[in-house]
Amino acid sequence: MRCHVNGALLAKEEKLGYTVGEVSDMDNRQTGALLRALRQERRLTQAQAAEALGVSPQAVSKWERGLGGPEVSLLPVLARFFGVSLTRLLAGDLMPDPLEAGNMKRLKFYVCPDCGNLLTASGGGELHCCGRKLEPLAAKPADKDHAVRVTEVEEDWYITFDHPMEKDHFIRFAACMTLDRVLLARLYPEQGGELRIPQLRGGGKLYLCCSRDGLFEVKL
Ligand SMILES: [Fe+2]
Repeated sequence: MRCHVNGALLAKEEKLGYTVGEVSDMDNRQTGALLRALRQERRLTQAQAAEALGVSPQAVSKWERGLGGPEVSLLPVLARFFGVSLTRLLAGDLMPDPLEAGNMKRLKFYVCPDCGNLLTASGGGELHCCGRKLEPLAAKPADKDHAVRVTEVEEDWYITFDHPMEKDHFIRFAACMTLDRVLLARLYPEQGGELRIPQLRGGGKLYLCCSRDGLFEVKL
């Protein structure tokens, strides 16, 4: 059974962070099954969930049986209440990551193109910022413009680079990663092209993220 959406909701799309197309693709039965599972996970009765959400118990029962979808204005409320993303709620599937996905070797970096927020994830989940789904940065071998010099100073690595550190072109962050740990340093325009970080055992890789040219990696 499909949920039908009024065209007047188009104006709300941007504010709500999803499109009418996404909502009209919602499968009520699948979303209903997910809502039931999430409610039961929180050990709530239909009446308790209904009260918290400000709807009738009959409405909750109807959604969970897939006989109708929640009103569009309620979807963000439901997503917040159950702590899931709107996209997964609409898909009716949380797409859990496989257990082996949560190790550092799979750590991915994400940078929001709007606000510059830096996020990391070691699984296959979706990350969102400023209303957009973020794509992980793909690391390239460091070219000559993004090369680094690494020397050992006491227990640290002293890392220097000649890359510009100007407002519209700078290194956003540097990260050292081994199999079981990651050390991340945020950098800012106008600061010098150097940083000092504790050495991590096991070598690993150093990542440099350029605000203009993307992510680069160097073997340590
Ligand atoms: Fe660059």
